[in-house]
Amino acid sequence: MTSPSLDALFRPFKIKSLKLKNRIVMAPMTRSFSPGGVPGENVAAYYRRRAENEVGLILSEGAVIDRPASRNDPNVPSFYGDAPLAGWKLVVDGVHAAGGKMAPQIWHVGSTRNMMAEWDPGVPVESPSGLVAPSDPRGVAMTEEAIADTIAAFGRAAGDAKRLGFDTVELHGAHGYLIDQFFWAATNLRTGRFSGATIKERSRFAVEVVKCVRQEVGPDFPIILRVSQWKQQNYKVRLAETPNQMRDWLGPLVEAGVDVLHCSQRRFLEPEFPEIDGQDGLNCAGWAKKLTGAATISVGSVGLSLDFLRAFAGEGSKVTGIDDLLRRLEREEFDLIAVGRALLGDPQWVTKIRSGERSGLKDFDPAALAELF
Ligand SMILES: Cc1cc2nc3c(=O)[nH]c(=O)nc-3n(C[C@H](O)[C@H](O)[C@H](O)COP(=O)(O)O)c2cc1C
Repeated sequence: MTSPSLDALFRPFKIKSLKLKNRIVMAPMTRSFSPGGVPGENVAAYYRRRAENEVGLILSEGAVIDRPASRNDPNVPSFYGDAPLAGWKLVVDGVHAAGGKMAPQIWHVGSTRNMMAEWDPGVPVESPSGLVAPSDPRGVAMTEEAIADTIAAFGRAAGDAKRLGFDTVELHGAHGYLIDQFFWAATNLRTGRFSGATIKERSRFAVEVVKCVRQEVGPDFPIILRVSQWKQQNYKVRLAETPNQMRDWLGPLVEAGVDVLHCSQRRFLEPEFPEIDGQDGLNCAGWAKKLTGAATISVGSVGLSLDFLRAFAGEGSKVTGIDDLLRRLEREEFDLIAVGRALLGDPQWVTKIRSGERSGLKDFDPAALAELF
């Protein structure tokens, strides 16, 4: 089989006010280099370096909203308050000066513990029903008032993103954190309007967040929502077992104002419903696009042999080819592709891919997680 051309990856993309020079997105990656919640010059230089090297859209690491228990790590950045927002202004200005585009990923961790270190925020952690996972209680169930305040805090963060000059905003609705704890039946045992037996009912919290964000950013500013079937609490869990359930989950979110669904998979090559379209079938982003009509971002093990959880276990990954990715982009299965570790470990990954100089590509060494370069 001949290698597909790189054109599908280096075509521009436009949605509302956002124009991208290519289809490559830097995946959001928590780096914990922002003591006191403030991203400093080292963080600005890290993102700028990726923009200088042709990344189309940079998604920041998760940055937490203005709620007492929104973080589970003292060194992740905040997205509220004067000093953190001044830090983010430096970040986005640097990315723009280098010709890049950027969104912050705004985040509330819910009751989820930090994967890397035990840390406690010193206030009760909050979640839909005071659970991290089935039979794993932690913290308190949110009151209606806490929910309303949280929705408003997501809205304010998105409004601040636009005011600071970011090009779009991503809401973290994946991986078992707060928004996902509302989606997941096992962690959402509430009664009332933010719960219910169906995924459509449990999407209501996210729908309210999206509507509030839309109110703050206006009609032309794209909103990205990151979602995942899997949870860090249980990798086998699926919110949607069928395409119909997926439509019930994601359709209302797109109607509420989401422009781009960022469908998180550990390996983008895995088909979402192989019983329907086979082992080479559409992946999660492919099905999300087909069912909702929204633009989608795919992600997971691009250019690397093993999935990212292995990096947390201290394992490296080998360079692999990207022909499968190019074929899926040519077929327009999804619109954009996010790249995580390959870009964390090598700011020049995009320019190397573009030049075709594959011998310059680096294997992923988990030691890179300890440094910001
Ligand atoms: C160090 C690290 C930190 C991460 N932090 C976040 C995060 O803050 N928000 C998020 O949505 N995903 C996060 N992820 C997941 C990545 O966005 C991405 O989905 C994952 O690494 C798979 O892409 P890859 O195989 O290209 O690395 C993180 C991944 C890594 C390796």
